[in-house]
Amino acid sequence: MGDGEVARRYHRETSQGPRHWPRPGVPGFEPMDPLRRPEPFKRYPDALLRDLPTDLPARGAPATLALSGRVPPADRAVDLDLLARLLYHSAGVVRAAPGVDATVWFRAAPSAGNLHPLEVYAVAGAVAGLDAGLYHFAPDAFGLEELAAGDQRDALADALADPDAAASPLLLVITGVPWRTAWKYAERGWRHVYWDAGTMLANLLTVADGYGLRSRVLLGFVDAALCRYLGVDGVAEFPVAVVVLGAPTAPAPSARGAPTEPEPAATPLSAVEFPLITQAQRAGDLATAEQVTAWRATQGATPTAAPDTADPPAKAPAEPIESVILRRGSTRRMRRGTIPTDVLRWPLTVAARGFAADAVPPGTSPLIHQVAVHAVEGVPPGFYGWVDGAPRRHRAASESEVRERSAHMCLDQPLGGDSAYTDFISAHLDRVLDGYGDRGYRLAQLAAGVAAGRAQLAAFALGYGGTGLTFADEEIPAAFGTPAACMLVASIGIPAYRPRPGGAPGRPTRISG
Ligand SMILES: Cc1cc2nc3c(=O)[nH]c(=O)nc-3n(C[C@H](O)[C@H](O)[C@H](O)COP(=O)(O)O)c2cc1C
Repeated sequence: MGDGEVARRYHRETSQGPRHWPRPGVPGFEPMDPLRRPEPFKRYPDALLRDLPTDLPARGAPATLALSGRVPPADRAVDLDLLARLLYHSAGVVRAAPGVDATVWFRAAPSAGNLHPLEVYAVAGAVAGLDAGLYHFAPDAFGLEELAAGDQRDALADALADPDAAASPLLLVITGVPWRTAWKYAERGWRHVYWDAGTMLANLLTVADGYGLRSRVLLGFVDAALCRYLGVDGVAEFPVAVVVLGAPTAPAPSARGAPTEPEPAATPLSAVEFPLITQAQRAGDLATAEQVTAWRATQGATPTAAPDTADPPAKAPAEPIESVILRRGSTRRMRRGTIPTDVLRWPLTVAARGFAADAVPPGTSPLIHQVAVHAVEGVPPGFYGWVDGAPRRHRAASESEVRERSAHMCLDQPLGGDSAYTDFISAHLDRVLDGYGDRGYRLAQLAAGVAAGRAQLAAFALGYGGTGLTFADEEIPAAFGTPAACMLVASIGIPAYRPRPGGAPGRPTRISG
């Protein structure tokens, strides 16, 4: 794995702003060419398709409790019903709209450009109601495509360098398909893969929390070994994160299957390869289990203290987590108005909370939050850092000045300034890359996606709205007076309308567009 230089270059060359646009990447590449529109779903036509349960009435803990980290772990067994809930509320199809030449599918988690460049694989070892095996989640069919039968967990042990993980009842492997997002965003699309993995994880980890199910995210693994295991090539599709769910159980020897070559997929995944994306992804690869262990032990690169819990406001709504997720839809229009202080404090504390991840020491985060406050009771408009759970002012300014500057920093998108506040989720990138090397870039971007996803869920849980936003990299440090690099933006405010809630599996809510 490299020392961070490739990631630094990637970051520079894909930064954007009024005076600087990322280079297009590939000669002759035209963004959003309708003739090369990527397939939204990967499918394995020769694989056995197992239906997932579709009757999933909301039974999880209140979203406010799940997001606060206050649901005690229940050491519960994993069954097919819970697996279906986890998959549906993170990667499921919840809404559908007519498009120019094809239906547009909206999913449970937000995704830049609604392009969803991710796939999910389930490694089932001890899931009641499901035979042990390696499966691919097909969101369009709401089913599991069986890629290899029998208990495949042993075959994963070397790739994950984590005996407990390989003995856990269920693992979900998230992979990225860069072309699906690079079709629009070109080389910058690699950032989007990790952002979107983060927002998907925000949903997944919160649903797991809502059922008291332990979860742990592995960002260190032997990339080539995991690619071989999944049958993906590491370029058109590469592993992004592994989520370990449930307490370890010894694999049942009778169920142990011989490692099998996964089924071939039929869906073409890529029409164009972007050299910077391939280089940046490759530069972070870990080649051996020893390298994985050493990378995980990296200390000192995550300087921010992160709270474990985020107590919700008194009298917070008790709506179950699943129903908040189905109600969420990125707010496209916000009404300017003043929000209570709690709607600043709680979503930001939820966003700043740590999540259990192999390479991030508990109680720390690679991120900082820089917040443009527009209209929040008791917090004068201005540019703030978020320090120890409270706003620390860098500079006061008039509401109109802050709104204007926020929108400008969000590439002149009005939502950035119409919100009640906008969180410029940032990292001291040099420190992160000095500590974690090139792979640190994946970590920082994914963590920013988790933070942005959680902030939005928290806002929706309180009856407000929010959206992720892209931004002008070079405009942001001056506003907050720090050299930190913006990773991703989340705008939180008063929605000017209410989106229609998403439907049940197989019955997406039809919307007009
Ligand atoms: C990482 C990320 C970046 C986004 N950037 C923008 C943006 O710059 N402008 C915007 O209007 N929406 C943005 N969005 C919102 C997406 O457009 C939205 O998630 C997508 O259209 C799917 O709709 P849904 O969230 O309602 O399911 C972003 C979302 C994510 C997750």
